[in-house]
Amino acid sequence: MRKNSYAIEGGAFGDEGKGKVVDYLANKLKKDFETLVVYRYNGGANAGHTVVLNEQKIVLHQIPSGALIPKSISILGKGMVLHPADLISEIESIEKISQGKMPGKLILDEMAVLALDTHRALENVLKKWQTGSAGATGRGIGPAYADVLFRHPVRLRDLTSPDWQKRLSQHYDLYHAIISGLKGKLESTEVANLQTNLRKVGRRSEFIKKLSDNRKVLIKLTRDVSTELSNLWRNSEVPFIFEGAQGVGLDPKWGVYPDVTSSEVTFSGILFSSEGIIDPNEIETKAATYKATYMSSVGTRKLPSVMDSGLAAKIRDEANEYGATTGRPRDIYNLDVPALYFFAKVSGATHFILTHLDICYPQSPVKVCVGYKKAGKEIDYRPDQEFLNSVKPEYLSLPSWDGKAIRNLRDAAMLPKEAKRFLKFFAWATDLLPFMATTGPDRNAVIDLL
Ligand code: IMP
Repeated sequence: MRKNSYAIEGGAFGDEGKGKVVDYLANKLKKDFETLVVYRYNGGANAGHTVVLNEQKIVLHQIPSGALIPKSISILGKGMVLHPADLISEIESIEKISQGKMPGKLILDEMAVLALDTHRALENVLKKWQTGSAGATGRGIGPAYADVLFRHPVRLRDLTSPDWQKRLSQHYDLYHAIISGLKGKLESTEVANLQTNLRKVGRRSEFIKKLSDNRKVLIKLTRDVSTELSNLWRNSEVPFIFEGAQGVGLDPKWGVYPDVTSSEVTFSGILFSSEGIIDPNEIETKAATYKATYMSSVGTRKLPSVMDSGLAAKIRDEANEYGATTGRPRDIYNLDVPALYFFAKVSGATHFILTHLDICYPQSPVKVCVGYKKAGKEIDYRPDQEFLNSVKPEYLSLPSWDGKAIRNLRDAAMLPKEAKRFLKFFAWATDLLPFMATTGPDRNAVIDLL
């Protein structure tokens, strides 16, 4: 085991509050260590988490929350897909509220793949042709990862190389041809930026001009990270936090097919992203994050554990369950233990983190799906939408507690007995060890459970 190493993934369908958890953990580690590394290994601008810096809220998409910690080193790994202009606008928004400079160091792996306006345009056009990507965030994630399998990706290395114009022009021409073939028009296709403002991709010369400006900024941050990463990993006095994006339920192999994302969401994504330098089996704490008493989902998937609509609306309202990237209202479901157990097992998680422990109402028991029946017979979970449409959930009702009364609580001993029992139930149901729980949106509303 490598000392002082933590990895945080979404245990369900994303949006479980990983950003806040990483922020808390990083701040805690900062007290005992000179520096720390925060490494992001998957996804791109499809992710979105809100964190607080200098009492101002900021939404991060591609940059990990740890980048807000002074003296931290944030690495955006090979497993990510990056949008240059959006990345720069994130950097600028951090600098704006942090005396004009990033609080920590930001390093971009030259092998990270680019997810450009061309990819966003193809995704928009594809949405009209098929159903699988209908729920996608419009950030070009699928096409960018598909480029790798097609063996024609554009990477940060291509953007920073001397002949970048040639490489990026070839890329534009390829996408022009693909989109024309799909009866679209690349230059006039509208794509969204981080603020979800729409703009046209534009002609090749405009596309290259925009990238030329972005390149000047990103070239300073981009490099071959392998030696640096390997040296940092070998020094166990430098703590590491691996910050995952999305959740296992969205993983292309393990999520609910077909409305899945395209990056490797599980901890095994770390092995690939670091080019084998970091074996996830050596990471001491691999924690999957869950919302304590419910699940949320944004996309087209439909889960069996449908919640009473009145309670779902109440939770959506109180916990602000609207997408941080697209603003879409999130669907709210009862906890689905067969799914969560499956996700924990296939991702290799060792611990759990429960967020939103304060979202619970004394008059509504916590309804938990503990099994499925199909044609009257018990059946195990399978990660497939058509299968899930065919099952009936079996429920257990657990005693609830007054969420408001525990808001901002930091001491596990002070939790009501129902909440304590619920933590035990969760550990038993998922076969994971407790790590943390959060009790409100405040930065320090966290209970250490280790
Ligand atoms: P994509 O990642 O944009 O390709 O979207 C694929 C699916 O994953 C869609 O259902 C999205 O809504 C969902 N998704 C992607 N990123 C997130 C996230 O950060 N939180 C929740 N859902 C997400």
